[in-house]
Amino acid sequence: MFSLIKKISVIPFVGSSLFFQLLITPIVHAAQLNPPTSSPAIYSQMAIHHPVWAKNAMVATQEAIATKIGLDILKQGGNAIDAAVAVGYALAVTLPRAGNLGGGGFMLVYLADKKQIVAIDYREKAPAAAFRDMYLNKQGEVIANRSTFHGLAIGVPGTVMGLEHARKNYGTLSRKQLMAPAIELAKQGIVVTADLANSLSAMQERLKKWPSTRQIFYKKDGSHYQAGDTLKQTDLAKTLTLISQQGESAFYQGEVATAIASSIQQADGMLTQQDLKDYNVVERQAIQGNYRGYQVFSMPPPSSGGIHIVQILNMLENYDLAAMGHNSAQHIHTLAETMRRAYADRSLHLGDSDFVKVPVQALISKAYAKQLITNINPDKATPSSEIKPTTDLPYESDQTTHFSIVDKWGNAISNTYTLNYSYGSGIVAKGTGILLNNEMDDFSAKPGHPNGYGLIGGEANAIESGKRPLSSMSPTIVLKDKELFLVTGTPGGSRIITTTLQVISNVIDYNMNIAEATSAPRIHHQWLPDVIRIEAGLSADTTRLLQVKGHQLQLKSTMGSTQSIMSTERGLYGASDPRTPSSSSLGD
Ligand code: GLY
Repeated sequence: MFSLIKKISVIPFVGSSLFFQLLITPIVHAAQLNPPTSSPAIYSQMAIHHPVWAKNAMVATQEAIATKIGLDILKQGGNAIDAAVAVGYALAVTLPRAGNLGGGGFMLVYLADKKQIVAIDYREKAPAAAFRDMYLNKQGEVIANRSTFHGLAIGVPGTVMGLEHARKNYGTLSRKQLMAPAIELAKQGIVVTADLANSLSAMQERLKKWPSTRQIFYKKDGSHYQAGDTLKQTDLAKTLTLISQQGESAFYQGEVATAIASSIQQADGMLTQQDLKDYNVVERQAIQGNYRGYQVFSMPPPSSGGIHIVQILNMLENYDLAAMGHNSAQHIHTLAETMRRAYADRSLHLGDSDFVKVPVQALISKAYAKQLITNINPDKATPSSEIKPTTDLPYESDQTTHFSIVDKWGNAISNTYTLNYSYGSGIVAKGTGILLNNEMDDFSAKPGHPNGYGLIGGEANAIESGKRPLSSMSPTIVLKDKELFLVTGTPGGSRIITTTLQVISNVIDYNMNIAEATSAPRIHHQWLPDVIRIEAGLSADTTRLLQVKGHQLQLKSTMGSTQSIMSTERGLYGASDPRTPSSSSLGD
């Protein structure tokens, strides 16, 4: 029966919509895929993208040159952490909308010899002068664009210190060796891809308004770069060279820090050189959950990702998802109802745990998950207006980018970092080539007021001096019997949590190989607005059944760009999301 089902292969790097990809060349190579053991019905609605196989090591990133650089470092004898540092710097050159020096992120490290997970928090911090109502006018209303396209939008960047922390503590190669490829790319120039040309064209109104940005990313006559053109980033090359020679102090002190602070102040921001000098990276304890016998590790606060992935998985564990059938109306209903409840809690309880008490253990407890699902009606959607965040707990962007790396020793890296919006605030610190984030928008400007992703935040995520804004970034590592099973993560703002969650559930509940789990159409519910956001690829029957249950559906563009590696008895399988044109997995 299964052999009669046509498997559709998607050509990597081509096209960005799943629908478009469904139309692309069908090639049958079923033998390369994990043998499916779940119902063939799951294959009827999705494109199947080949995983990349390798015996020893694998790199999966959103940009092909960075992937190659990561693999080269592994081949030179570097470990996964070395490769991550090289990729982190390379993406700042090759994927300027999300790869960065001027942003921040989270890195999960799996140290194979110690069977230990380390969570590195290099999220941006609010400047010392930041205060709760800094985005409100006299009437107490949120002033448009202040937290997004303005000097005040910029948090103190953490990427350079984060990458240096990882390298110094867990890497083996020199900073010079790891940064050389990025410096060379910035100096010699990169060939502009169609993806980069499109995004620079789409963003021109926002980016061109800053002369320091316009000068780098647009031609002298104001036109944008076309695919095939060469983009040189000479200032960025200089900055990278300084960091390579002097380490993180070249970014947080000295001429680069002076340029960052003065550019921000010229854009009416408040970030100072002292803020840069005071920045710190923190190692935190990863959030750990157990899902059907697998150990799931993800990012703790100031990310909400780990807590809510585990919370939703805990709720889902009470259902026989496999029996429902993948992306059946019952499956999507169950996903949406559990997501809705988790995002309601997010709005109340989540913030930087260095500043507020986040009831982590309560939110990730199996007992609380059981309590939460008691009012899920299998036949009817619960309106979000009837769901409130629980106050009496039992106790106590396509704009971001992710990469996953596994080395030949079994060490793994799951790293998500961001400028927040595409190209962040749009402001380049003059003379440095560094695009600066607009991460301050991830705070709640006013409790109850939605941020750029429509997420509602509460008091726990109010702005405070030196606090880190709440994130959804969810670099995740899944172990089976303490051995590496899955490394995954994605960009996508508020959809990061639900996208990562669906990859995990697809491989565990539906026994999909990692490419199938990646390609399968995704859904998302975040409590408010009360809609299930869906990708193309669900059947009309399914969407009708969901509407009968009372759900409102919204077909929107694709969600996320997962970069995943699955470890199997046969070796490593990498899968870069076919939703992003230039993403690539390469193995050795
Ligand atoms: N800036 C998106 C996030 O951190 O979730």
